[in-house]
Amino acid sequence: MSLLELKNVYKIYGELHALNDVNLKVEKGEWISIMGPSGSGKSTMMNIIGCMDKPTKGQVLIDGVDISKESSKNLTTIRRDKIGLIFQQFHLVNYLTAVENVMLAQYYHSIPDEKEALEALERVGLADRAKHLPSQLSGGEQQRVCVARALINYPEIILADEPTGNLDEANEETVVDLFHKLHDEGTTLIVVTHDPEVAEVAQRQLVLRNGRISKEVVNDHFTGKIRFTD
Ligand SMILES: Nc1ncnc2c1ncn2[C@@H]1O[C@H](COP(=O)(O)OP(=O)(O)O)[C@@H](O)[C@H]1O
Ligand SMILES: [Mg+2]
Repeated sequence: MSLLELKNVYKIYGELHALNDVNLKVEKGEWISIMGPSGSGKSTMMNIIGCMDKPTKGQVLIDGVDISKESSKNLTTIRRDKIGLIFQQFHLVNYLTAVENVMLAQYYHSIPDEKEALEALERVGLADRAKHLPSQLSGGEQQRVCVARALINYPEIILADEPTGNLDEANEETVVDLFHKLHDEGTTLIVVTHDPEVAEVAQRQLVLRNGRISKEVVNDHFTGKIRFTD
């Protein structure tokens, strides 16, 4: 059984087919990138996989459970237990420090634990920024706090929607290096990106066009070792 499966998924707004018969299987531990022009349905697809939205038609199976049929309450539980989200806009709480932002995710999941939250920040190289507010952090540092927040509950799937969209090259490398680490540890990664360099490091690249998967490239050279920096 695949970790994630989309079967004949549609998202329709009036006349517009934001997703138009999408079929996709993702195996546990896979690293997938999704590209495609603006408006092609990338975020719609991520929102549906991330249990934040439901398809108009079709099935979305996570571990064999059809989330398109679940109540919003159950969707919240599934998202909390299985999914880590990273966005282009950081969505950090401005008046909370880095470590408190990470602890907030723990709070929604189970019990806040400052030591664990600090360890997560350490993993993303931000141990010394734990007490800083978002406004006192650079864009790259804020995104790393978001990665720490996404990691804190040990999700099976990380969904990242243009995670490097607001970052300069050095910070982009740091985030991609973190993705490598997560992939090495067995996390499943689905990463939407406009950046071919970020897309190419994945095992499989999908291109969305007008709500359909128009192209799929398997990276034969994938060794799990290709890195920007070494
Ligand atoms: N809530 C909504 N109501 C109406 N149209 C929407 C809504 N959300 C997205 N769309 C439309 O669906 C299409 C796909 O959007 P989106 O998934 O955000 O694209 P992408 O992330 O690839 O840029 C776009 O044409 C967008 O305008
Ligand atoms: Mg988008």
